[in-house]
Amino acid sequence: MQSKRFQILAEREINQETFVEPWPEAGLVVTDSPYDPQPSLRIEAGQVVEMDGKERADFDSLDLFIAGHALDLAVAEEAMATPSQQIAHMLVDINVSHQEVRRLVAGCTPAKLCDIIRHMNVLEMMVGLGKMRVRRTPANQAHVTNWREHPALLAADAAEAALRGFAEVETTVRVARNAPFNALAILIGTQTGRGGVLTQCAVEEALGLKIAMKGLTSYAETLSVYGTERTFVDGDDTPWSKAFLASAYASRGVKVRFTSGTGSEALMGNAEQCSMLYLEARCLLVTKGAGSQGVQNGSISCIALPESLPGGVRAVLAENLIASMLGLECASGNDALASHSQIRKTAKLMCQFIPGTDFIHSGYSAVPKRDNLFGGGNYDAEDFDDYNVLQRDMQIDAGLRPITEEQALAIRQQAAQAIQAVYAELDFPPISDEEVEAATTGHSSDDMPERDIIADLAAADQFLAGEQNMLTIISALQKRGFAQTAGNILEMGRQRVAGDYLQPSAIFDRDFHVLSGINDVNDYAGPGTGYRVENGRWEEIQRIPQAKPPYDFVDAQVGKPTEKLVEIGPAKAGTRPEVIVAVGPAFNKALTRTIGGLEHEDVLKAILTGVASEGLVARVVKVYASSDCAAIGHLGAQLSGSGIAIGLQSRGTAVIHKRGLARLNNLELFPMSPLLTLEHYEAMGRNAARYAQGLPVKPVAVKIDNWARLKLIVKTALLHRRETEQIEDRPPAELAFDWEPEV
Ligand code: 5AD
Ligand code: CA
Repeated sequence: MQSKRFQILAEREINQETFVEPWPEAGLVVTDSPYDPQPSLRIEAGQVVEMDGKERADFDSLDLFIAGHALDLAVAEEAMATPSQQIAHMLVDINVSHQEVRRLVAGCTPAKLCDIIRHMNVLEMMVGLGKMRVRRTPANQAHVTNWREHPALLAADAAEAALRGFAEVETTVRVARNAPFNALAILIGTQTGRGGVLTQCAVEEALGLKIAMKGLTSYAETLSVYGTERTFVDGDDTPWSKAFLASAYASRGVKVRFTSGTGSEALMGNAEQCSMLYLEARCLLVTKGAGSQGVQNGSISCIALPESLPGGVRAVLAENLIASMLGLECASGNDALASHSQIRKTAKLMCQFIPGTDFIHSGYSAVPKRDNLFGGGNYDAEDFDDYNVLQRDMQIDAGLRPITEEQALAIRQQAAQAIQAVYAELDFPPISDEEVEAATTGHSSDDMPERDIIADLAAADQFLAGEQNMLTIISALQKRGFAQTAGNILEMGRQRVAGDYLQPSAIFDRDFHVLSGINDVNDYAGPGTGYRVENGRWEEIQRIPQAKPPYDFVDAQVGKPTEKLVEIGPAKAGTRPEVIVAVGPAFNKALTRTIGGLEHEDVLKAILTGVASEGLVARVVKVYASSDCAAIGHLGAQLSGSGIAIGLQSRGTAVIHKRGLARLNNLELFPMSPLLTLEHYEAMGRNAARYAQGLPVKPVAVKIDNWARLKLIVKTALLHRRETEQIEDRPPAELAFDWEPEV
């Protein structure tokens, strides 16, 4: 036998994922491998002689580095003696400050850090993350790349990303030799969009450093560290070489963030039977010991590996939390493609989105998925509107803001023209007006004309090898009339000398104002404290261009009332066989069209035609006392000679009622007013007439649309309010309708 249910489930996106059972020997376990060491620490004569069950003589290079540079020995014994559950409690206790937690955590070994996490569920970790995050104000980082590596498109997308609120923008390369030009494009783009956006170009580290020294980038992030010695060496490094590289960057005013994350060691085949989180705890201590101000973690490029295992999403949250506990700025992942399932990817995102991290995404793909050279984003340019709505829904600041199409076009054009001018001024292969236009209005590489790649690469080589640097770019921009972009890049250079953005978790707010863990320290201490989305920022998040003024929903339903329908006095109870059409208080006055756009006059004609076609007459009465469909129909039925009435709200909702039935009972109900046609109304008239004559009746068949309520509930509410406003405390009135149905 085969189940159709299971067949359909098998086709769902979630079942395109890979799921695997844990295998600790291969490092395929997210936390608590049976081979993970137990926490321990012995200090003799100011030196660590045993850590996590290992004697100093057996230390590998990571142990040695951690013991020597990452642990605060002044607090280590106290920290290791404090029960892990107690530290876990401190993490969620709003009465314990993050400084207090951080002081103790500074003395924790990798195994101790994992032991604290062992006591925490996802909700508790989120509370901990909200409290331990270094910077008070959360932010976001964008990826800007395209497969054509088109400079004008890179500049335009970077400008839009800056305008959309990203505090950092990262690019990378398809062809390594393009690195200096890609870095240049996003520098010009971001500084056109908003001065102060930090930029980086993720490439091989010596090349990355060279580009940074030219002033083309302002931060470096992919200084990768790994949790076992073998993987570290495969990555061509040691903790000391990484520390040295970090110092090289920082000494030139470049912000440094390391990269680590669960799964890399298992992926590289050297997990030493340990859990992913334990190895990540080691990475984080190496990162801290090397003096990096922060870390990009949350599995990053390996995310699908922990997510294939039970507890994977929890472990990824745990690594973000440990980073924050250690006082490291955390760019918390959510960058690489992690799931086929929209439900699953959003659920995972909430772990960082709700508590807030220093950078919710360590690379939100601000370009179409296909143009993302980091391997496709988990969230892409196509998701911008969804994202803005999530912020608006939850009153959460995840670093983005809505913009209008006009704003986007203007800034994209400006950035594309700026880079065109620089290329012209410096004799780089020209960027045509056609390319500028395509970059302004296009969505992706597919919309861009092809460039001469050989010429571009040759120019990039020359630019890299020569003496030209950010000052060359600034003067070219200035000369060609792009004073604002030139000024912003110059200010980036000035800030680099000042060095304030090397502070922990530093970003620039608007106007080159530094926000960091020093002047914008996270002071969360429970409800009403810490970062709150309020005032201007809340206004900005609310103002999605799709949100309409409420009155727009009503206006379209108000036209000129027909003069054929006039009130002639109080409605009397009838005695002959007839159908009453009882309309609502706003009918043909405050409202003149149904929610589906039918003119009231036409609706009335259709009903009367239906009644007449069954050989009966109808009277029209207006109910003033209620806007409720059932009440309108019920009142009509009391007045009807036959006892049959059609109740009709102004928005078009209708009921066929009968005297003697309870108010909320009925013969037929038509709640799907947007879907009702004149044919339906005519059929209602026919049926009502047949009920009135005691004839057999087949209920009117109407279409059902499950989405109608979702789509039209705002309009429904506002039209109902309009009708309710017209309620008067007076008996129903008789209406004369100056129109005769043809029979
Ligand atoms: N551990 C360490 N480094 C990582 N990167 C990505 N994921 C990880 C990880 N889990 C780094 C690599 C890669 C860049 C995008 O980020 O250096 O090239
Ligand atoms: Ca990144």
